[in-house]
Amino acid sequence: MNLLASQLNQVIEKGNPHIMEMLSEIGKKLFFPKGILSQSAEAKKKAYKLNATIGIATEEGGIMHFPSIMDTLGTIRPEESLTYAPSFGIPALRKIWKESQFEKNPSLSNKETSLPVVTSGITHAISIFADVWTDPGDVIVLPDMMWGNYNMTLSIRKGVKITNYPIFTAKGGFNVEAFENRVKEEAAKNDKIIVLLNFPHNPTGYTATEEEGNRIVRILTDVARGGTNVVAVADDAYFGLFYEEETLKESLFARLCNQHERLLAVKLDGATKENFVWGLRIGFITYGCKIQGDPGPFYEALEKKTAGCVRGNISNASHLGQSIVLKSMQDKKYPAEKEEKFEVLKKRANRVKAVLSDPKYKDAWDVYPFNSGYFMCIRLKSVNAETLRLHLLDKYGVGLISIGERDLRVAFSCLEEKEIPELFDIVLQGIEDLN
Ligand SMILES: Cc1ncc(COP(=O)(O)O)c(C=O)c1O
Repeated sequence: MNLLASQLNQVIEKGNPHIMEMLSEIGKKLFFPKGILSQSAEAKKKAYKLNATIGIATEEGGIMHFPSIMDTLGTIRPEESLTYAPSFGIPALRKIWKESQFEKNPSLSNKETSLPVVTSGITHAISIFADVWTDPGDVIVLPDMMWGNYNMTLSIRKGVKITNYPIFTAKGGFNVEAFENRVKEEAAKNDKIIVLLNFPHNPTGYTATEEEGNRIVRILTDVARGGTNVVAVADDAYFGLFYEEETLKESLFARLCNQHERLLAVKLDGATKENFVWGLRIGFITYGCKIQGDPGPFYEALEKKTAGCVRGNISNASHLGQSIVLKSMQDKKYPAEKEEKFEVLKKRANRVKAVLSDPKYKDAWDVYPFNSGYFMCIRLKSVNAETLRLHLLDKYGVGLISIGERDLRVAFSCLEEKEIPELFDIVLQGIEDLN
């Protein structure tokens, strides 16, 4: 094992030996290399005469560039966009994102978490998470309705076994009992389980209520107390888009942090969906757990392993993307902009609810519970979802997503409010055509 990896492992072992057990085989071997990037960081501080360390090009004391590139970037300087960002992410963005996590999640106050490590979007965060914390054959507990890409990132690429529970009860809430049974069944068979929680949820647009959320935290803490290592991952891609009174308004990550030595909470979030910058590809991985002694070196060790994994994978996320997100978050307009877009999406969600309460749709579909995020789903009663999707596309020029035999996902995030009644009327018409 590389000496740097062993040193990080010693720090982790001392702070919490169970976290060491949870690391994957790759995770145990990971370290942040003292390669070109760290030598060049040293040179940046000390090489006052000549600095010939890093694989970029300079000219006349500045960064070599094409004016045709810089002309498109407005006020952003080459040093903030064309040069490499650190594999950890740029420090100011990591700091401001962490501060925003604490603002948005009151249960984090008085708790210690790592600094977020920047990834190239949340898909990449999931993939890096999988490298650091999962081995082939590990079990991950997910609901039966889930974002399809977990299959690619976790099951196909890493050989992790996905095990499901039915997401909703017949009455229409989160199926805490089914969740508990599945988690406890897996805990009885495995020394470590991984549980992925995604609220607001893709594809249904559901977020657990306060009560359901607290029960989830209790169940996972109980399982950890019972002697199973629990890696609880919150995929908070759509964080903040909570439209109903009764739903949780913070990430379960915040409540899971610091609950038990055998419980590692991992937060995967990002600017992509939250700040409507999908193509800028800015995501984050943040850790929270119980630690003996000083949390500083412990979290630094986890950050180094995670950034080492990024270094060996994409090297670093887009500097330009990070700078744009940072400048936006530092802008005094930012809070008002965020609020304004939240209101737009909330109005659309409310309109969907109002439209769907019309009894004319009753024989055509059931509506899955939704209260947050970008999406909602309907369950078709009489036609196949894919057949209907193709029919709506061909005859009416309307595009929706079919999932399995019966479910259709509607992204109300990309419908104007006034288009919502027409959309559902066309879906109804399509069903009548097929029947
Ligand atoms: C639940 C969930 N997580 C993660 C992602 C990926 O987000 P990103 O664009 O940041 O990779 C998506 C995107 O559809 C998603 O629905």
